[in-house]
Amino acid sequence: MRAKNRQARGLFITLEGVEGSGKSTQIRHLAEGLIHAGYRVLQTREPGGTSTAEAIRQILLTASPHEPVTPQTEALLILAARCQHVTHVIRPALERGMIVLCDRFSDSTFAYQGFGRDLDLKWLQEANAVATDGLAPDLTLVLDLPVSVGLARRRAGRGPLNRLDRETERFHRKVRRGFLALAAKEPRRMTIVNANRPAHEVQDELTEIVVGWVARQRHRPRRTR
Ligand SMILES: Nc1ncnc2c1ncn2[C@@H]1O[C@H](COP(=O)(O)OP(=O)(O)OP(=O)(O)O)[C@@H](O)[C@H]1O
Ligand SMILES: [Mg+2]
Repeated sequence: MRAKNRQARGLFITLEGVEGSGKSTQIRHLAEGLIHAGYRVLQTREPGGTSTAEAIRQILLTASPHEPVTPQTEALLILAARCQHVTHVIRPALERGMIVLCDRFSDSTFAYQGFGRDLDLKWLQEANAVATDGLAPDLTLVLDLPVSVGLARRRAGRGPLNRLDRETERFHRKVRRGFLALAAKEPRRMTIVNANRPAHEVQDELTEIVVGWVARQRHRPRRTR
């Protein structure tokens, strides 16, 4: 697993956190900041990132209440989407030396399907390792805030509410606790950022963390291919 990560010449950075924590808002700013600094960046998201994976995303977000998606089906669909994404988009970009910024990745599976839906964490980790062929993020930022604040932001925002937005607050609290537990276990890879602040403050902290971290990896900007 480690050896595969080291082989990749690029850097793999993921943003995680509960609904409405600001991942999609912040990832755009981060990508712009890194591109401005001269890095080659690929911005992507999960579930999604390839046409097959985006089709799976639609199934997950719009499934009919008349045929509830079981937790196991949900996990397997997400992992299938991830397998396509890693194989066709993420790994090739890393092999080309790019910085890959991904809005949600494996930690969301552990937090939502493991902590939230009570699926066995060890099974999820093993199945995830098959889906990713052992690829793990090099750096993960967890945008943390009370779930009531995140859900209120989502409801006030323009996007339509999806199947997961409509889950109970209790479910989302379990997910939040999941992210915090995962970060406590892997403090070198995962950094918790307080997202319960104005977006520009979150943006400043994220930029400082990521730009400093990228520089420490001695990953030189390459303006041309
Ligand atoms: N720091 C902030 N303060 C207030 N509102 C914010 C902040 N960051 C983002 N928002 C707003 O909150 C809403 C949700 O933000 P965003 O879509 O970035 O969150 P997300 O983490 O990607 O959510 P999801 O998990 O549902 O994809 C948007 O309407 C966005 O404009
Ligand atoms: Mg989002």
